[in-house]
Amino acid sequence: MAKNRILITGGGGFIGRHLVKLLLSKGRKVTVIDDLSTGNMIDAEPNMRFIVGDVSDPSFRSEALEDCCALVHLAAIASVPRCEEDPPLSERVNRRAAISLFDEAAKAGVSVIVHASTSALYGVPEFLPISESHPIAPIGVYGRDKHLAETALLGRKDVGVCALRLFNVYGVGQPSDSPYSGVLTIFSERLRNQESLTVFGDGKQTRDFVHVSDVIQAFTMVLESLEQQGTGSPVHAQALNVCSGQTRTLLETIEAFGDAIGVDPVVIFNPPREGDILHSSGTSETLWKALGWSAQMDFKDGLRSLVS
Ligand code: UD1
Repeated sequence: MAKNRILITGGGGFIGRHLVKLLLSKGRKVTVIDDLSTGNMIDAEPNMRFIVGDVSDPSFRSEALEDCCALVHLAAIASVPRCEEDPPLSERVNRRAAISLFDEAAKAGVSVIVHASTSALYGVPEFLPISESHPIAPIGVYGRDKHLAETALLGRKDVGVCALRLFNVYGVGQPSDSPYSGVLTIFSERLRNQESLTVFGDGKQTRDFVHVSDVIQAFTMVLESLEQQGTGSPVHAQALNVCSGQTRTLLETIEAFGDAIGVDPVVIFNPPREGDILHSSGTSETLWKALGWSAQMDFKDGLRSLVS
């Protein structure tokens, strides 16, 4: 049987669900593996197989890779504080399971691998905006393990590979019930419930917020380029920033939320969170030059979609 499925690990999670939907809408066949620790089941679709399982378990990995021609690896312990609390867990999932999966996928005949990496591996920025040539200096185990997985992948010569370094991804569908959820999701949920917002620090820290619709476009374009051109693709063996380049302070996001819903949010200031970086801002010029990708979502529209 022809290998024509795309395996999406962590496909039940925030980014994964959006990506699965987009790929199915393009007529692609998708296999999802997700242990449902933070993700959810997706309603049955004719072109989708959903395996409930842990990617760090080899028996699930081989089942998931059946009939697959491409792999998008999103499954991770994505919470930075959780990785700090439990470094062996981060090492097992974010590093070892990822590297084993890449090996097994290549052996199983997969010809394209796209990995969700993170801007956390840059650590405290030495210059802004951060380009891919910025030094790698993760401040915690999450960034370290993601970087080791990324390095192992990009060293491969046998398959088309690419790592996307995601900045602060936001959008509808991010779980809001976890203290580790993204700040915009937490703020929108609290505003919806007419609750006050907690700001850690003075609110002048900046983040590069990129909307999930732009992120899944980046994954799809990279995937298709590698499928068409293999190791000859301009993104092969590259680690590429996925960011909007439009940086906002937290205070600016609160003001924008206030405008979107027509209220003046009540803000409580708490001491800065341990390990927080002050400023983050990226440039995605390399991905623009390679494939013509740039973030399209207007920030205010993106916020409005969160609170509507
Ligand atoms: C985010 C990602 C992380 C990624 C990193 C890359 C999320 C949840 N985390 O971390 O996976 O590796 O970018 O750089 O997307 N804050 C408040 N009040 C709140 C919640 C947060 O003031 O209620 C502040 C935080 O202290 C921080 C900023 O908002 O200064 C952003 O926090 P958060 O959304 O958790 O993301 P990062 O820490 O940047």
